[in-house]
Amino acid sequence: MSENNNREQWGSRIGLILAVAGNAVGLGNFLRFPVQAAQNGGGAFMIPYFIFFLILGIPLMWIEWGIGRHGGRHGHGSAPGMFQRLWKNPIAKYFGTLGLFISLVIMIYYTYIESWTLGYSFFSITKMYFGETSFESMKDFLYSYQGRMVGDFSSVWTSYIFLMITFTINFWVLLRGISKGIEKLAKIAMPLLFLFAIILAIRVFTLGTPDPNNPENSVMNGFAFIWNPNFALLENPSVWLAAAGQIFFTLSVGMGTIHAYASYLKPKDDIALSALTTSATNEFAEVILGGSIAIPAAVAFFGVTVTTQIAMGGAFDLGFVSMPLIFRQIPFGEFFGFIWFLLLFFAGITSSVAMGQPVVAFLEEELGITRKKAVGILAIVVFTAVQFVVFFLKYGFLNEMDYWAGTFGLVVFALIETILFMWIYDGEKAWEEMNSGGDIKIPRAFFYIMKYVTPLVLVTVMGWWFINDAYPILVLTGVPVENVPYIWGARILMIVILLGLFLMVRNAWKRKEE
Ligand code: ALA
Repeated sequence: MSENNNREQWGSRIGLILAVAGNAVGLGNFLRFPVQAAQNGGGAFMIPYFIFFLILGIPLMWIEWGIGRHGGRHGHGSAPGMFQRLWKNPIAKYFGTLGLFISLVIMIYYTYIESWTLGYSFFSITKMYFGETSFESMKDFLYSYQGRMVGDFSSVWTSYIFLMITFTINFWVLLRGISKGIEKLAKIAMPLLFLFAIILAIRVFTLGTPDPNNPENSVMNGFAFIWNPNFALLENPSVWLAAAGQIFFTLSVGMGTIHAYASYLKPKDDIALSALTTSATNEFAEVILGGSIAIPAAVAFFGVTVTTQIAMGGAFDLGFVSMPLIFRQIPFGEFFGFIWFLLLFFAGITSSVAMGQPVVAFLEEELGITRKKAVGILAIVVFTAVQFVVFFLKYGFLNEMDYWAGTFGLVVFALIETILFMWIYDGEKAWEEMNSGGDIKIPRAFFYIMKYVTPLVLVTVMGWWFINDAYPILVLTGVPVENVPYIWGARILMIVILLGLFLMVRNAWKRKEE
């Protein structure tokens, strides 16, 4: 296709920045990050975290914006076509299929978690969980909502209703397209998200010592807990892996979604500064706001020992158990609870629509399907697959998908795209592409980082995984026996999705050749 293809475009620069920042800022910033920091050495975690931000996060952002805008210029809004443009070998498009697979699989489980936040904002304003006074009963509330047990909710259907609402909004936004759907959503949701997060962070700062008989439990000790560096932990490679994983997930790099958004840029639009601005916005939301809410509040109310247990219990315990327990105890807790969960919902939905966009663009552009039909097909696939996530949640179905697509897959895809752009396509041409139209010049040092350091670090991460983790994870060491069939079920589902995408990519190119 020529440079004058009739693709959609972003309406404004600020709209684009908010949309890409919305893509990056997600549940990961407010739930995953504080738990990762608390589990992996507090302030010391920030050392590998910022190193990886510099040598993986930022470079990959530039690479993905560069590949995306380049692909868009030639009429491609998804990775198969973009990769094929960069490398004439017919296999390139199949590597690009990973960019459809990863975003699609993450979308399947991510929208479900996102729907809990919508449910909980409703439960907050209606004070539905305010009668739960202990961790156990608040956890039971969550578990019965998730359909893991019978309790406050007799079945999973309440959660199902919120899932359907979340679904409808997601697909409605996708149907409206780039500037009327995604951009508009970002322009409303992102400012509100920041407003809510700032209100909550201020509220947490002013918590002081909620129980005067227990001066140890203070918000200041909460900040000390999350930020006091435990340098000894830096000797542990798993801390470094956790930091790299968080950088990937939070910036949404290695997913295929940044490329899709960047493909709607005009050929001479800036990349260099926009990519940096969106990354900085994400880091502000994550480190400053994400780090100032859930963990410090938990320490102020429950103390360090209990908060450690909460953090070990994972992101859901922190967000959906300990936070509600706090809201029920503070004045206007129903309001603070409402904005906490709505903030999570806004963070989630601006990310999940991004995960749907690559497949929609692929169906429209490579298979010639109308947007309406493309969104319909995506909705049917996501709807079908999410049933397994909903009904098999307690058997680890969601975690398995998150592991392969949301953790492992990101590294693999990032390695492929870096080699493709910086080595196969040609590093100098790639550099020119990323800098062209730029409002700033990317410091030349990053050329060497992108060409040598980023791929080397990615290979090292993969190698470490292969030696230490691959075998026990593949053979499910330590997994409860009753979960084994479900975990294999999740793997089979992912293989089916991947094969289906490969077939579609093959057909799309066959069709073009005819
Ligand atoms: N980047 C998104 C998040 O942090 C996926 O949740």
